[in-house]
Amino acid sequence: MHTLFVRNAAQLVTVAGPDAPRAGAAQGHLDLVEDGAVYAEGERIAAAGKTSDVLAKFPHAKDAQTVIDASGRAVVPGLVDCHAHPVFAGDRSDEYAMRLGGKSYREILAAGGGILKSVAHTRKASHDELLAGLENRLDRALALGTTTMEAKSGYGLDEATERKMLEVIRAANEGPQRHAIDLVPTLLFAHAVPVGSSAKAIADAAVEATPRLAPLAEFVDVFCEKGIFELDDSRRVLEAGKKAGLGVKAHVDEMCLLGGAKLAAELGAVSADHLLYTDDASIAAMKRSGAVAVLLPGTPFVLRAAYSDARRWIAADVPVACATDLNPNCFCESLPFVFTLSVYEMKMTPAEALVAITINAAAAIRREKEIGSLVPGKLADIAILDGPSYLHLGYHLAGNPVWKVIKRGRVVA
Ligand code: NIG
Ligand code: FE
Repeated sequence: MHTLFVRNAAQLVTVAGPDAPRAGAAQGHLDLVEDGAVYAEGERIAAAGKTSDVLAKFPHAKDAQTVIDASGRAVVPGLVDCHAHPVFAGDRSDEYAMRLGGKSYREILAAGGGILKSVAHTRKASHDELLAGLENRLDRALALGTTTMEAKSGYGLDEATERKMLEVIRAANEGPQRHAIDLVPTLLFAHAVPVGSSAKAIADAAVEATPRLAPLAEFVDVFCEKGIFELDDSRRVLEAGKKAGLGVKAHVDEMCLLGGAKLAAELGAVSADHLLYTDDASIAAMKRSGAVAVLLPGTPFVLRAAYSDARRWIAADVPVACATDLNPNCFCESLPFVFTLSVYEMKMTPAEALVAITINAAAAIRREKEIGSLVPGKLADIAILDGPSYLHLGYHLAGNPVWKVIKRGRVVA
């Protein structure tokens, strides 16, 4: 059995507490330990705490196969990206230029660009091409501290391509081509409406294919938006997923207030995501249902839209998670960048932002018992920062504040 000992960290952030999403005041509780250590046996944490305490309990830790001196550095849980679209083919940098020239995301989509452009390329790409693109993005994410990522389908809009995408996610997650990052697959069939088709037709196809695709996924998702999939179609798609045994997630209130967050709450969604135009009544409904609010500040950053104010959810005792939304529109693998935006633009404290990309993000993909905090029994997924405090995640801009990454007890980046 492989053993690993990270010792003498200037600051260890365990995020210890219940294996549950943290809301309200608990969203800001980190548990900071000076001169901290983590000892792992095999894939799991055996002990985490003061270096002297860990050594008192496990004296042989000092002879572990891998010993890392973390003096002068901060140790945090491996980061969890709970909303991402990392599988796609083609390039959309031209649309970045078009948006800078004044065209809107919607105009580009209505003209067959945006998601539809990615769909055209993804349909044509082979399994191996898609896998190579995915692994390239996962390598960057891993170096930036991500150890678990959600991975959505959604650039197929037909059963064969949706299946191909989910199989690519599976190939990166198990078997000989497995990547160090653990992936959590989400079926997002109803992601856009092709020019000349209708929301009803795509939602029908999604509903019909869901029982066959569900074994490849853990969650169902939909782009619930005015003029895309409105409430009735979104409900049908999500209910079909639920019936097939999938957890529910939804893209809601990204461009206007349509009521998607309320719908997600009503369906017992694990999370409602984006939430740029959500009203107080929807927040109250999310609170009653127990949904996690997943905020994606990279998207308003690239769309030059107004950010969500995270304080509204925290004040309402709804747990907040933050994620990259990695996709060809918001082309970002960096949770440290998301941390920075969460603090500067969504008014979160740094402590709240760290909870949002660790334990709360884990809860948004139903992994809160396995990852998201550094406590005995959980997977030894760890990020060691290139600075003495976790604040470096948001404070050190535009580079990589992560020094080393450990996944399942092994150094991987
Ligand atoms: O979360 N809103 C829908 N889906 C993605 C964008 C996908 C794309 O533009 O390719 C999102 O923002
Ligand atoms: Fe998204």
